[in-house]
Amino acid sequence: MATAEYETHEHDVLIIGAGGAGLRAAIEAAAQGVSVGLVCKSLLGKAHTVMAEGGIAAALGNVWPEDTWQVHFRDTMRGGKMLNNWRMAQLHAQEAPDRVLELERWGALFDRTKDGLILQRDFGGHRYARLAHVGDRTGLEMIRTLQYHAIHQGIDVYMECKIERLIKDGDRVAGAFGYWRNTGKFVLFKAKAVVIATGGIGKAWKFTSNSWEYTGDGHSLALWAGADLIDMEFVQFHPTGMVWPPSVRGILVTEGVRGDGGTLKNSKGERFMFKYIPEFFRSETADTEAEADRWYEDKKNNRRTPDLLPRDEVARAINSELKAGRGSPHGGVFLDINTRRPADYVRKRLPSMYHQFKELADVDITREPMEVGPTCHYVMGGVRVDADTTAGTVKGLFAAGESAGGMHGSNRLGGNSLSDLLVFGRRAGLYAALYAKDFGGQLTVSSAEVESLARESLEPFSRSGGENPYAVQAALQDVMQNLVGLIRNQTELQDALVKIEGLKERANKVRVEGGRAYNPGWHTALDLRSLLTVAECSARAALERRESRGGHTREDYPQLDPEWAKVNVVLRLKNGSITGSREPLPQMPDDLRKLFEDRQ
Ligand code: FUM
Repeated sequence: MATAEYETHEHDVLIIGAGGAGLRAAIEAAAQGVSVGLVCKSLLGKAHTVMAEGGIAAALGNVWPEDTWQVHFRDTMRGGKMLNNWRMAQLHAQEAPDRVLELERWGALFDRTKDGLILQRDFGGHRYARLAHVGDRTGLEMIRTLQYHAIHQGIDVYMECKIERLIKDGDRVAGAFGYWRNTGKFVLFKAKAVVIATGGIGKAWKFTSNSWEYTGDGHSLALWAGADLIDMEFVQFHPTGMVWPPSVRGILVTEGVRGDGGTLKNSKGERFMFKYIPEFFRSETADTEAEADRWYEDKKNNRRTPDLLPRDEVARAINSELKAGRGSPHGGVFLDINTRRPADYVRKRLPSMYHQFKELADVDITREPMEVGPTCHYVMGGVRVDADTTAGTVKGLFAAGESAGGMHGSNRLGGNSLSDLLVFGRRAGLYAALYAKDFGGQLTVSSAEVESLARESLEPFSRSGGENPYAVQAALQDVMQNLVGLIRNQTELQDALVKIEGLKERANKVRVEGGRAYNPGWHTALDLRSLLTVAECSARAALERRESRGGHTREDYPQLDPEWAKVNVVLRLKNGSITGSREPLPQMPDDLRKLFEDRQ
């Protein structure tokens, strides 16, 4: 197989990932006057950001003037079961409204209140209707707006480019090595600062809302370069993914359905969520159907319906109903909006959901309920960053969005991802640019190292007798779905780790055929390295945390444990092996702590 030749590009700031966080980072870095390269694994605009359909959480106070950043901060911390990095949660709540208004100035067309303000909708765990939205296509509108704005800022965009490794010069990051998916040729980017904004890890699980790109690339690149990851045990299973037909299983059904009046029911027609209200949220959650119905109708100071508890609570409740044999015909539960809302309302507020079910499942959601069940949607864990600057623990490395950890604690509230992308994408671009401007001296990149990476990447072509990479990916997805899923225990997690070791050996022997141009088998062979890395990180951290909290439920340790509320599980590479340790969480200052004492 031909050569390990490569082309070279050089930038002050290289941003890997072009979803919401990457685009926002690129815009900000360019505004600082530095040269910016933006790398996308697929085409520009194709990003998991579009899967945040229901809205952007920001305390604009347009529907509820009572809403403030303090209430948003408190909701976010409580949703994350207090494991969030408090400073990130504070910055996020304070800056989200400005980021939404800025998006509007750049052309985003939000739905409107009667008075012409940006309309906000209800979502799980948010005390007030807080999500600025565009029907059920908010992420799409956000990407469209950012993309149109970004392309006028003098940014160099590299599409269909997959990054394989970060390159270091001594102890600092100095660029990245990768290949063009369309030609299979190699490319080196030299850069003073690198921003990781590659999104999530969902493709390590079988049923996921994530598309093919989300193979944990950025998490792995950072770890391999010596950076710390935190909170990798916390994986969000969105309660409502499609369950039928099998070919579309896992596709997201927006929480906006419940925000706009949809209720969850089991096979007996019971609104089962009333049985699953945890003590933690009891004071603010309606405990009878009549009370929940009043909330749906006027929302005035009423306790919210339990259908809109945070996602971890709802996903576990659905799982319990399924285990008790009260599921729908295809192994989900029912999500019913047709009983409460007229057809016109559903088609206007939820046009994508209407089409998605009509076209993919032949279900008319204005007449019949949807069948839904948990789907792997988001990872709360990621690169350990400084809250203000987004700097990772290796010099020259920054991270934002889903690939950064800390902001969401053990469970993210719906809608907080889009605001996270904007707030910390902007900060990442800003501080990476400032770092690049301050950079003294020359970057040295070893061409021998680059050539060796290129040769290693080509190995699957020259092996004989190895198996197909897709078989290994499918086996990994089964392991993660069955053993590191919504409910975990020690025996299964240990078993998962043994199986992942076995899969690593198989991955080292996979064989691919054909040429280098557009060869998806080869791409999968290379993706296996990051998939297996993030799978191991997740299973290892899950085994370490002996309690249940947010997106990590241990049936052998079913309670929240106050001792575990004080620590993050930190993962790092030591002598080539991933090790986990417990390290103290940053302490919240007293003025913020007080917000949790005087809750209404
Ligand atoms: O349900 C949704 O629309 C997803 C939103 C999110 O993940 O933030």
